[in-house]
Amino acid sequence: MRALKTLIHRLGVLNYLRQSGMPLALWPHQWRSLWTMKSLRKRYQGEFECYRQQSAALELSQDWFTGNIPLWLSVMDELGLRQAPLRALEIGCWEGLSAHFLLTALPQARITCVDTWQGADEHRDASFEGARDLSRIEARFDRNLAAYADRVQKYKGESQHFFATAERRPVYDWIYVDGSHHADDVLLDAIRGFRLLRTGGVMVFDDYLWRYYPRLRDNPAAAIHQFLKLKKGSYRVLRSHYQLILCRIAT
Ligand SMILES: C[S@@+](CC[C@H](N)C(=O)[O-])C[C@H]1O[C@@H](n2cnc3c(N)ncnc32)[C@H](O)[C@@H]1O
Repeated sequence: MRALKTLIHRLGVLNYLRQSGMPLALWPHQWRSLWTMKSLRKRYQGEFECYRQQSAALELSQDWFTGNIPLWLSVMDELGLRQAPLRALEIGCWEGLSAHFLLTALPQARITCVDTWQGADEHRDASFEGARDLSRIEARFDRNLAAYADRVQKYKGESQHFFATAERRPVYDWIYVDGSHHADDVLLDAIRGFRLLRTGGVMVFDDYLWRYYPRLRDNPAAAIHQFLKLKKGSYRVLRSHYQLILCRIAT
């Protein structure tokens, strides 16, 4: 019965992705991911529990991140990044949980954190379950990352303002796109972020399967698919589940 439910859910997800313009090459990745995720959760269970303890003192109103830990660790291991002096960029940081994990997992890494700290559409939507109290998220971010201040650069503002002022060359090894989830913004963050991503660098899209906007084309998947088509040949897909993770292979 459970297997049947899972299969039906899976088919629903695939249908949504098809309607959102998923490139053909992504089908096997998405189909396989269910089984891959199970084994990754098992493989990284110990480290996952360890991080939960390390992060227990953080001030968090929300955990949108720790479910991704097995996926991230598997990519870090596959690419041998654990001890790399990696430069990371995060678009959308909230209270700093994902940045905190990256700084903990990669002791040589530095990160640029970009956020308005004013939330996204869904956080301001009182009729939506995602609505949040936004008054304290920035202060929590500051306190949660205070111990890592020498490895964190904070930019307060919209991602497009950040990109307008950023260096115009590939300087980042890891880019996490998790800011506004409206497709227009995701597409712009992806294109402008990709310009700053080194060959061999990793780009992670959060909320690939998330549906909030009534029109399919306004949700992240539609933007991510357009981006993948536009940049075909310049990346290799590493993982495709609730997040989509790729590696840049050519400039
Ligand atoms: C889902 S939260 C990020 C969660 C965080 N990455 C984590 O895993 O803990 C999305 C964040 O994006 C920020 N945001 C929304 N639109 C933005 C924009 N245009 N530019 C920069 N940040 C934005 C919001 O303020 C919010 O903090």
